[in-house]
Amino acid sequence: MSLSPTLLLLLLSLLSQELTARGMSRSRRELSPGLHRAGIRDPGGAYCSRLWTCCPGRSDTCTVPYIDTICYCDLFCNRTVSDCCPDFWAVCLGIQPPFIRKDCERHGQRYPAGATYKDNCNLCTCSDGQWSCDQYACLINHEMIDGINRGHYGWTASNYSQFWGMTLEEGIRYRLGTMRPSATVMNMNQLNVHMERNELLPRYFNAADKWPGMIHEPMDQGNCAASWAFSTAAVASDRISIHSMGHMSPVLSPQNLISCDTRNQQGCDGGRIDGAWWYLRRRGVVTNNCYPFSSTDNQPLSPQCMMSTRSAGRGKRQATMPCPNPYSHSNEVYQSTPAYRLSTNEKEIMKELMENGPVQALMEVHEDFFVYRSGIYRHVPVMAGAPENHRRHGTHSVRITGWGEQLTANGEMSKYWIAANSWGRNWGEGGYFKIARGENECDIEMFIVGTWGRVSMEDMYHK
Ligand SMILES: *[C@@H]1O[C@H](CO)[C@@H](O)[C@H](O)[C@H]1NC(C)=O
Ligand SMILES: *[C@@H]1O[C@H](CO)[C@@H](O)[C@H](O)[C@H]1NC(C)=O
Repeated sequence: MSLSPTLLLLLLSLLSQELTARGMSRSRRELSPGLHRAGIRDPGGAYCSRLWTCCPGRSDTCTVPYIDTICYCDLFCNRTVSDCCPDFWAVCLGIQPPFIRKDCERHGQRYPAGATYKDNCNLCTCSDGQWSCDQYACLINHEMIDGINRGHYGWTASNYSQFWGMTLEEGIRYRLGTMRPSATVMNMNQLNVHMERNELLPRYFNAADKWPGMIHEPMDQGNCAASWAFSTAAVASDRISIHSMGHMSPVLSPQNLISCDTRNQQGCDGGRIDGAWWYLRRRGVVTNNCYPFSSTDNQPLSPQCMMSTRSAGRGKRQATMPCPNPYSHSNEVYQSTPAYRLSTNEKEIMKELMENGPVQALMEVHEDFFVYRSGIYRHVPVMAGAPENHRRHGTHSVRITGWGEQLTANGEMSKYWIAANSWGRNWGEGGYFKIARGENECDIEMFIVGTWGRVSMEDMYHK
């Protein structure tokens, strides 16, 4: 674009008229954002009072050094966006300064505007002399913990440092991670366990007593929403040990599933147990020693798959890659037979558990489950009156390892399952929890899965 010379001249003359009218060129001063937007710093300091006079009108030389810049003591400085010295209003005008700095107080200390601190899961910011905090529901909520412990619900709650500072949303998003099976899988034929009429089952059963050394310790999924991989690997580990009569006792690798079973699975962003069982049967996984858990810190993208297998005949597979860590050399692959679904009948689940070992269970986790410490868990209504965002639930999967019953304080018999979670061993009762049995509490009896380890005669001479 080119301007005609006449238009250009006109523009230039308008501009110079404007400048002459003002009597000077535009200075940085008029364009500066002002010195006191976050309140006056050093309000008690002496600035204009150190000059012998306040300057009338505009005087760009009427300045005093102020912190890392200069401030003005001429009347022109008193505009909406001000660059006056802190004591200008008091000394030159005899009025209160308009930009009162609004500090906030906390534990006897003053904090400037814009300061922040974290209150559990909420960020608090000092603005206008007050702390204003986010209003997220926190995973650790002391009113809820107190409510549970005061309510005598048959279980106790406690604070967990690993959950402190997380929102409830984050707990649901990062600590669970099992997707509900599709309708087809849900309708999968149930395997019925043969029961004699009036068959008696023990009042207490713990797989760890029947199969010592073959029931594996609960692991910790951290902030990786992959309970689908943890519960599957845990049940398969126990059952391979049991079915090989202890000749093999692998702790199978959840990471192998998280990183390599990626078809329709979301790694640390959730997955399906039917997909996990398919993978265990058709591809197999190595041990946790060989392929250690490394997905942490809310990273939904799981690391690249570092293991692969090839057929070794008769459905067996062997690894084609070394263990993805320098310390372990045993890259043996473990597989299972097809997983089967059990009925929702409490007695049948018990019999299966007693005969074949721990089973996998889907479970709906509510806000109160995170703070479970001991006792027989039931979802309790302590948060019923709280705002809606304090009540959340999501689908999880766990490993049931036993059952029992006990008398409650009011003389009733209370039946429970013993189950292993994947939140580490400092959660609950050494990583385990008890949950009400026979009433489908939190859907725990709704989808129960078992499997056989693929164990051959050669494996029996494995040790
Ligand atoms: C200076 O600014 C304050 C606050 O904006 C105002 O109340 C006052 O009238 C101004 N004084 C002069 C002389 O412009
Ligand atoms: C809960 O645990 C966190 C982290 O250990 C701690 O900072 C917090 O003060 C605890 N809350 C209470 C009330 O004990």
